[in-house]
Amino acid sequence: MLHPKSAARIQTIPETIFATMSALAVEHNAVNLGQGFPDFDGPGWIIEEAYQAMKAAKNQYAPLHGTRTLREAVAGYYAKSYGIEADTEREITVTSGATEALYASITALIDPGDEALMFEPFYDAHQANVLLAGGTPKYITLHKPDFTFRTEELERLISPNVKLLILNNPQNPLGKVFTREELETLASYAVENDWIVISDEVYEFLTYDDAEHIPIATLPGMRERTITISSTGKTFGLTGWKIGYAVAPPELTAAIRKVHQFTTFAVNTPGQIAMGHALGRLDKYLPEFREQYARKRNMLHNGLLKGQFAPHMPRGSYFMMVDIPSDLGMNDVELAQTLVKQHGVAVIPPSVFYGSSDEGGSMLRLCFAKTDATLQAGLEKLVEV
Ligand SMILES: Cc1ncc(COP(=O)(O)O)c(C=O)c1O
Repeated sequence: MLHPKSAARIQTIPETIFATMSALAVEHNAVNLGQGFPDFDGPGWIIEEAYQAMKAAKNQYAPLHGTRTLREAVAGYYAKSYGIEADTEREITVTSGATEALYASITALIDPGDEALMFEPFYDAHQANVLLAGGTPKYITLHKPDFTFRTEELERLISPNVKLLILNNPQNPLGKVFTREELETLASYAVENDWIVISDEVYEFLTYDDAEHIPIATLPGMRERTITISSTGKTFGLTGWKIGYAVAPPELTAAIRKVHQFTTFAVNTPGQIAMGHALGRLDKYLPEFREQYARKRNMLHNGLLKGQFAPHMPRGSYFMMVDIPSDLGMNDVELAQTLVKQHGVAVIPPSVFYGSSDEGGSMLRLCFAKTDATLQAGLEKLVEV
């Protein structure tokens, strides 16, 4: 129950499904394949760096826009991996996770009455932040079975009120990686209609097989209109440290920092120092990281084939969608409740990530950022249904 004096604009904000399902998982002592974080620790060498920084008295406020070494490390890999040159003083802002970068960016841009286009299923914070800012989310469905969008559906939403296009690539929950052709289509609409694009790329390093992550900011006409957001929590499996960043041209960065200065002001110092160090060693770190997740993806996929939940093979992220067999006679919310209460496995019902289509009701989202033992235990429970 909300306090009766709560602001009107928060009345429509639901409790995040991740908190709901994780609480149910604890209550029923269930295997948690729901919330998107690893159930194993991040690399010891990064933790050691943070510890050393703490012991070296790096414990006071960091600069508002982030420690110099972390901003330099972000600029370094953007230049090397993507050919994007970012000015460390005027174009990179370190935030408390990608979550704060999203909040600051959307709050900085959306006025009441503005519209923001987003793909559904969406990441729930994208929708919530637009609502909190008094804006209106508009949804473009990524349709089953291959999770593509129809340009005519996008065109129907074009209006002078649209200010933002919010993209998540690689995509949570679908595991979709947008192709160059798809991104070019989106870029042409953004340029033609003068939209700002917020591109949430927290799974930028988790692509599989021949899928290539292409930041939309690298396409012609996009660098000057794109805010690219990422998260060291996802990249290094240390989600609890909440260190993310936004890379954007100077005027957009100035707008983001206006919100950031009075939201968190600065992000924890030892963690930033450690992450600056870690991002400088991506070349060494990434092959094993990617290999580990590709193996977990295959393990979950192959295990699911023995049961009745048909998996959609993801090309990115650490999520997998599965189809609910129609003869179970349950939608995703009913089945997720049954699974956690009667079968001891927590999953996410994705219909909460849709604003217009009902396609989500026929699927479940599983997370494979889990130890092999957790995956095995979860699979055993899913296969017995
Ligand atoms: C698409 C997406 N964006 C942002 C976040 C939040 O990132 P952070 O933990 O860095 O705040 C998540 C976490 O699950 C996510 O899946």
